[in-house]
This record gives sequence, C-alpha cells and structure tokens, in this order.
Amino acid sequence: MSIQSIIKGTGSYLPSKILTNADLEKMVDTSDEWIVQRTGIKQRHIVSEGETTSTLAIEAAKQALDASGLEASEIDGVIVATTTPDLTFPSVAVHVQAALGLPSKMAFDVQAVCTGFVYALSTAHSFLQTGMAKNILVIGAESMSTLLNWDDRTTCVLFGDGAGAVVLGESHDTSRGILSTHLYADGTHKDILCTTGGVSKTQTAGTIQMQGRDMFKQAVTLMHNVVEEALSTNGLTDADLDWLVPHQANIRIISATADKLGLSMDKVVVTVADHGNTSAASIPLALDQAVRDGRIQDNQLILLEALGGGLTWGAALLRF
Ligand code: UT7
Repeated sequence: MSIQSIIKGTGSYLPSKILTNADLEKMVDTSDEWIVQRTGIKQRHIVSEGETTSTLAIEAAKQALDASGLEASEIDGVIVATTTPDLTFPSVAVHVQAALGLPSKMAFDVQAVCTGFVYALSTAHSFLQTGMAKNILVIGAESMSTLLNWDDRTTCVLFGDGAGAVVLGESHDTSRGILSTHLYADGTHKDILCTTGGVSKTQTAGTIQMQGRDMFKQAVTLMHNVVEEALSTNGLTDADLDWLVPHQANIRIISATADKLGLSMDKVVVTVADHGNTSAASIPLALDQAVRDGRIQDNQLILLEALGGGLTWGAALLRF
C-alpha cells in the first residue's frame, strides 16, 4: 500500500516585540516609503532578551502538535530548518525534542537559509516514504535579527524573527499529501548572500551581507522555473492551484512570480508586510496563518516555493 505524507497540523510563533519602519528611520538613513515601495515590509517581529531560535521553535511546535491531535509519544523525529541556531551545537532540534518530551528518535537541523523549510519538508517526506518514520515535526525557525549589521540599511530593514511548524505524517489516503518536491543549489553564487563570518573562519557568527539586485534577478527567474517544474511534473497547470505560499522576501518578487504563473494575488498567501523576511520560518508561518484563518482547506492544491543564500531554491507541491 502506498504511503502518502500529509500535513496533520500546523503552528507558528512570533516574538512579541515589533520593530516598525518608523523605528528603523531613527536607526539608519531610510524611510518607510522606501521600505514599503521596494519590499512591501511595514514591520517585523524581533526577539528580546531571553528569546532564542529554540524558544520560538518550541512554541510553534507545541501548536502544530496540538493541531495534529497526536501525542508527543507518536512523534518519530524533529527536523528544524534554521540558519540562526542558539548554539553552534547542539541543534535547535534537540532543544525542541527535550522541551516537548518527545521520544529519543532522530532530531537534527537543516541549513539551506531561506529555502530551509522546503529542504526540511522534503527530507521528512523521504523518511516517511521509506518507512523510517511515521510522524515528523518539521520546523522553520529563525532569529535573523541577531545576524544583522544594524548600521547597514541595505539589509537591516529586510529581516525578522519567528517560527512555523508542521507535523508531517504518513497516511494511506492516496487523494492527499505531498505530490513532489524539487530542491536545487548553485554554489557558484554563494557570495551574493552570505555572512561576513562563521565558526571555522572567524570564530564569530558574522553579519548578513547581500547583493540585493543580483538576488532579485535570480529569484524571479529561478522561482518561476521551479514552480513550473513542480506543476508539469504532476501533469497540472497554474489553473489547478488553490494557493501559492511563497517565501516572503519581497512583495515585488512574490507578485512577479504570481504574474508569470498568471495567478491572481487573491490566491497568494502574503505575510511579508507584517513579518519581513523570516528566512526558513517564512513559509510555515504563512501556511499556518492561512490554515488558521480558514483560507487553506483540506484537499486544496498548495504550492510552496523559496529561494535563498547558497544559492538554494526549491518547491513542494501538495494536496493539503
Ligand atoms: O530571502 C533571500 C532572498 N532575498 C531576496 O531575494 C532579496 C532580493 N532583493 C531585494 O529584495 C531587493 O534587491 C532589495 C529590497 C534588497 C533592494 O531593492 P532594490 O530595488 O534592488 O534597490 P537597490 O539595491 O538597487 O538600491 C537602490 C537605491 C540605492 O541607492 P542609489 O545607489 O540608487 O543611490 C541604495 O543605496 O536604494 C538605496 N537603498 C536604500 N535607501 C533607503 C538601499 N537600501 C536602502 C534603504 N533605505 N533601506
């Protein structure tokens, strides 16, 4: 009997502290007008003293577990997509495992920057397909604010913190579940979005630097290619899609992708105005929001897509 991977529950968490564009105007030479016009971002949530990527991930995971109706004892693994772990090691995943009292099964982090959640979901899907696990908590969690150079206006206005989670579990109902996932990376572009340091090179975490225009160009082309590939692989077209849940880096990239697909923005889940770019957390945060407010319903066709540092990019097509 074939095994399907279905999303059994979703959850998310945002730190309570909000940084508005007006706040940023007092910190760097920028304006609300520039940020809104160029990115669509109006505010972002950021961690306060005592909050870390793990604390965000744990809250999102609790919600997803609750929504799934499963017991902690039924979770076979935790995969956290993050670029901003509390510590270099151990992983954020083991923090979540310990906090939720999950069984001593696999727990590890995946690092593919903004594409991390799509990579993590695809990894979990593979474990379910091979029968190695029945239910996996898949989390995207980031504290991007801790990696920012607050004097660099070209990056510090873009990012935010948060976490989103899903329980991906096996099902034998062949009408639902993940249809396909598509993962890519091109290391020849590794320098266009990167940090200025890292453990083995500088013994620091460094801060984010980005060649924004180059990223923008890559994003529009590669996102379009990967979403078309996801649809055509399954013999589907844009018209079949109920929802596009894209990585939330910039409203102009999201609109361009929707435009190229011929998809109305009414079918796109957009959170970038309120969350900024939360890297690996952005897709599960947007997904959870649209599930909780009733937009996303069972059996709908959902396309997730992302692009980030690496370059990495990817998509997942699923029947919710
Ligand atoms: O999540 C990973 C994926 N991330 C992305 O895909 C991000 C992709 N890139 C982008 O979203 C956009 O390129 C940005 C939002 C980062 C920048 O927008 P842009 O329209 O590409 O602006 P730009 O970099 O071409 O800069 C235009 C001008 C420059 O001034 P000059 O050289 O024209 O005088 C910048 O110095 O805007 C200036 N600028 C700012 N002005 C006010 C750059 N940042 C700011 C700022 N406030 N915060």
